[in-house]
Amino acid sequence: MSCGIERVQEARLAAEELRSQVNYHDDLYFAKDAPEISDAEYDELMRRLRAIEAHYPELITPDSPTQRVSGRPVATFTVVNHREPLLSLANAFDLDALRAWHRRAADLAGVEEFDMIVEPKIDGLAVALVYEDGRFLQGATRGDGLRGENITENLRTIRSIPRQVRGDRVPKRFEVRGEVYMSKTAFEQLNVQRTDEGEPLFANPRNAAAGAVRQKDPRITASRRLDIWVYQLGWADGGKTLDSQWKSLQWLAKLGFSVNSHIARCRDLEDVQRRYEEWAEKRHGLEYEIDGLVVKIDSLDLQQRLGFVGREPRWAAAYKFPPIQATTKLLRIDVNVGRTGSLNPFAVLEPVQVGGVVVKQATLHNEDDVRRKDIRVGDTVIVQRAGDVIPQVVGPVMGKRTGKRRRFVMPKRCPICDGEVVRPESEAMSYCVNTTCPAQVFRWLTHFASRGAMDVDGLGEQWAYVLLDKGLVKDPSDLFSLTREQLLELDRMGEKSADKIMANIQAAKSRPLSRLLFALGIRHVGSEIAETLANEYGSLEAIADADREELEAIAAIGPKIAESVRAYFGGKRQRKLIQKLKRAGVNMKQEHATPAEGPLAGQTFVVTGTLASMTRSEAEAKLKALGADIGSSVTKKTTCLVTGEPPGSKLQKAQQYDTKLMDERELLRLLRSPR
Ligand code: IVH
Repeated sequence: MSCGIERVQEARLAAEELRSQVNYHDDLYFAKDAPEISDAEYDELMRRLRAIEAHYPELITPDSPTQRVSGRPVATFTVVNHREPLLSLANAFDLDALRAWHRRAADLAGVEEFDMIVEPKIDGLAVALVYEDGRFLQGATRGDGLRGENITENLRTIRSIPRQVRGDRVPKRFEVRGEVYMSKTAFEQLNVQRTDEGEPLFANPRNAAAGAVRQKDPRITASRRLDIWVYQLGWADGGKTLDSQWKSLQWLAKLGFSVNSHIARCRDLEDVQRRYEEWAEKRHGLEYEIDGLVVKIDSLDLQQRLGFVGREPRWAAAYKFPPIQATTKLLRIDVNVGRTGSLNPFAVLEPVQVGGVVVKQATLHNEDDVRRKDIRVGDTVIVQRAGDVIPQVVGPVMGKRTGKRRRFVMPKRCPICDGEVVRPESEAMSYCVNTTCPAQVFRWLTHFASRGAMDVDGLGEQWAYVLLDKGLVKDPSDLFSLTREQLLELDRMGEKSADKIMANIQAAKSRPLSRLLFALGIRHVGSEIAETLANEYGSLEAIADADREELEAIAAIGPKIAESVRAYFGGKRQRKLIQKLKRAGVNMKQEHATPAEGPLAGQTFVVTGTLASMTRSEAEAKLKALGADIGSSVTKKTTCLVTGEPPGSKLQKAQQYDTKLMDERELLRLLRSPR
């Protein structure tokens, strides 16, 4: 990657300038909700910064925005002892309960009334962030309140957590607390993606956020688009003295933390109640889920005096919204078949209004879930809609169960093709194993042609169905042998549509390898994993030949994915499909892989350790210029390992594969006269 800057001094200045711009725009975007530039312009700043850092790795600083997504996977999370416990909250489910809380607090404090801060109760997970000398040092989950997990690297991937804060009288060390959450949009997109990948869906944004934050690989966390609302200053050593929650929040906002803009100061309970009623309605319009309001006494002195009982402060209460639930009758449990053959049970319900929306169907996730909740056909069930999320069946109303109700069992044969159904030992999902199952092929074909995959615009579900029904297409590779005439023979197919589909099929042949890989519909291989594999291997053949061990050597790939990739390419039918795609002229190489030209074409080099005469990226750029492919890990395909100091574990790998080794002197000789 060229950054167009020749001198390191200039590069340093440019990188500093870009970092401060990125931080500035992050602050506008997240904390102030007032971006000044488009996402594309933001991406361009990041791209330029990455280019400089790739060229001059010595300029990378630990707090650079680029480092947010490149943290190393951690084996397990270490334990963090919270210096002061993270408390939970007593719940109030109605105004009477809130009045009781208010009265007790007032009595104990010996006052008549007090100002209260009313905040949205964000439905996410609590984290504690420690800063030292203004830098984000450590982030941890709440855990049991006393001990949490160290998830610093994952939290670094959240753009709205400032890496560095500057301001007036910033304490030497301090802790802020807040709620990490996933927006409703990000949550829905994630579940769409997981449906495509045949992965179990997350029940709600909170679970999705909790899952994302506990990922072993921060790059996965980064892809999940998390956010934070900071709601409390924990402890602080020195610095500014503050006497109220209101002022603390204002100060935190000024330092660059995301403080929710719907926080208000209320004089009395009537005021609180007005806000409660307002938000019980308006909350559905928010981009994130809230399950109530948190009412806190504003004065920190009063807070101190009141203290806590058990794990709950006397100075705050959670005023919860009633959940949006309804009861109705479960008429049937149907099963549909996903692209990867997964059998997905869903509830067919007597239509019912839940929070203003008519619900007729609800997800049941999988067989275990139905069993665990003991949901049976004929039951009266509780249906819940959390915000805009897919409706769920919470469980049966046991008191209303009449007569004998049979337990749900997953059908032994596929409801569509009558094919065999199996349930892999380690999974909660059952699968139809008949790869020619019409439901599967249909979903596979529409997935293959979809926007994120081969993008055959104009094909859509309707035509996919017709093509399969007429027998013109049996698997996606048949798309490439369709003729214009065949299309025109179909009912209601006009010349314009036929031309459009033909042109888009033609264009699909040159999609990048990552798209093809995603389009193939390999279980557990979503668009991100596809991208990783394509970048790592550069060609479909290389991926098909990779063994499990090699695959697992890639950070983002664990045993489950490696096994799935191996199983896929081990299949006869799949090999045949790939041959057909190849014959049709479908691109099977990574688009930006250097075209094989130059004396080192066809050879893959890996450079490891530090070189004395140039940086590693310079060496890689020079090898690339001579036509070589550059790998990041040693695989069977590696032609040569260039060993800097120290060569590390790559050397052992190279010895294992009998890969040619080259030291710096030999490298310099090769670069001078490559042949
Ligand atoms: S204050 C006393 N403020 O709710 C300190 N918590 O049920 C307790 N939460 O563990 C935290 N939004 O995860 C506070 N504005 C807010 C909150 C909030 C969400 C969560 C937090 C806490 C849980 C307690």
